Amino acid sequence: MRRLFLLPAVMAGFIAAASVTPAHADTATAVVGSLGPLTTGQQVYQHVCQGCHMPDGKGAMGAGAGFPAFAGDQKLLNTGYPIYIVLNGHGDMPWFSGMLSDKQIADVINYIRSSFGNHFPGKVTPEEVAAMKPTITMEDN
Ligand code: HEC
Repeated sequence: MRRLFLLPAVMAGFIAAASVTPAHADTATAVVGSLGPLTTGQQVYQHVCQGCHMPDGKGAMGAGAGFPAFAGDQKLLNTGYPIYIVLNGHGDMPWFSGMLSDKQIADVINYIRSSFGNHFPGKVTPEEVAAMKPTITMEDN
């Protein structure tokens, strides 16, 4: 819940920064825009991932559904695994390379590794995501 209370403060910070520094105006406009870009891992999760993986990160299994839980998911321990899956997709999991930015992918992976009771050590950086991006496109197949 604390995050929800902090968000308006963060936005106010952007707006304040924009009013004194014109260079920040674009960021502020985007942040307060109707939908706005997904600027935090939590926002990316809520808008892009939770429809399948569920708001509580517990997934949904059985009866034709096979969305793995993140809560307590030891496969998230090594950062390379979730980076690979999010970039390339797997089974019924769509790929997000080229759809989310490297930073959004890093942020959302950091979010799932530190939410739902998870406390996995280390952080994913956008540079690590960029380094693992697939270079082969559909046309190359
Ligand atoms: C359309 C539904 C769908 C969406 C949207 C989706 N996923 Fe998945 N995800 C899946 C399915 C299905 C699997 C299991 C794939 C498999 O192993 O065959 C999966 C697997 C994963 C795994 C591997 C988990 C494990 O234990 O093996 C990770 C990590 C993951 N998703 C992260 C994400 C993130 C982060 C997002 C949002 C950016 C996301 N997913 C969005 C359906 C989805």
